Amino acid sequence: MDPLDILISDAQRAFAAAAQPAALENEKARFLGKGGSLALLLKGLAQLEPEQRRSEGARINAAKARVEELLHARREQLAQSELDLRLAAEAVDVSLPGRGRGVAGIHPIMRTWMRIEEIFSSIGFDVANGPEIENDWYNFTALNNPENHPARSMQDTFYVDARDSEGKPLLLRTHTSPMQVRYARRTRPPLRVIAPGRTYRVDSDATHSPMFHQVEGLWIDEYVSFADLKGVYTDFLRRFFESEELQVRFRPSYFPFTEPSAEIDMMFTSGARKGRWLEISGAGQVHPSVVRSFGLDPERYIGFAFGSGLERLTMLRYGVSDLRLFFEGDLRFLEQFNR
Ligand code: PHE
Repeated sequence: MDPLDILISDAQRAFAAAAQPAALENEKARFLGKGGSLALLLKGLAQLEPEQRRSEGARINAAKARVEELLHARREQLAQSELDLRLAAEAVDVSLPGRGRGVAGIHPIMRTWMRIEEIFSSIGFDVANGPEIENDWYNFTALNNPENHPARSMQDTFYVDARDSEGKPLLLRTHTSPMQVRYARRTRPPLRVIAPGRTYRVDSDATHSPMFHQVEGLWIDEYVSFADLKGVYTDFLRRFFESEELQVRFRPSYFPFTEPSAEIDMMFTSGARKGRWLEISGAGQVHPSVVRSFGLDPERYIGFAFGSGLERLTMLRYGVSDLRLFFEGDLRFLEQFNR
C-alpha cells in the first residue's frame, strides 16, 4: 500500500480518536506541524531527481490537502457535539410547572386598619398620620395632662434619650391622641378625622404588647354631642363586625383629655362569642382645655374623641384569644387570614 495512503488513514484514525478539541490540535501537529510527518516527506523531496521531485511533490501536497480536509471535518464535528452536550445540559423543560412566588398576605391587624379607614372615610372622616416618636407636649401636656400630673402614670412610657428641636423631651407615643392636637392645629373646623397607627407602652402579657395599634377618632364642630359619639361609634361597630347582633355600653371613666369620659364596651348578643362585655375603646367629650390646645375657642367648638385598640377589635372579629400571636410572625397563624 502506498505510504501516503497509509499516512492519510493514520491521520483519519488519529483525528477520530481525539475526543476533545485540544487532543485534536495535538494530532494536527503530529501530521501537519513543522516537524510533522508531511513536513518531513516534503523535506525528503530535496534528495530526488527534479522530474520525480515534481510528481512526488504534487502527490504529497494532495495528501496534505486531504489531511487538512479531514482535520477541518473533525474540528467541526467536535464543535457540534460540544454544542449538543451544552444544549442538552442547559435544556429547559417547558412542560414543568412554574416555581411560583408564593402570594404575600395582609396581616390581620392591617386588615382591621384598612377596614376602619374604609368605614370612616365613607362617612366623611379624613385619615391622618403622625410621628411615633412624639414630644411630651403633644403626647401629654396639650392633652390636659401637665408635667408631674399623676395621670401621666396611667401610661407607662418609653422615653427616648433625646430632645426635639424645641428642647422638648421625646418619647414613643403612648396613644394616638396626640394626633387630635396635630390635626386640629393644621385644619379648620369642622374637624372629622381618624388617625390609625402604632403606639407603645411598657406592658406585655396575653392582652398587652409593648407595641400595639390604636385608631384615634375626632369630631369637632359647633354642636357635636355625646349622642353623636354614641351614634357614630355604634354604627361603626355594626359595620366593622357586619352584625346588628351586638350591644354597646358607655361606662363612666376618666381621661384627662375628655369630660365626661367613658369606656366603650361591647357584647355580641348571638353566636359563639355572645354574652361577655369586652372593653374596646376609651372615649369622651373633648375637654375644653384640649380644645384650647387645638387653637380653638371651647365656648364655640365642642365634640368627641375616641381611641380604640386595633388588636382588641381584631381579636374579637376573628376569635383570637392571645394577642401575642399577631406579633410572632408564625405563618401557620397568619396564613389563615388570607385564604
Ligand atoms: N388615649 C386614650 C388611651 O389610649 C383613649 C382615648 C382616646 C380616650 C380619646 C378618650 C378619648 O387610653
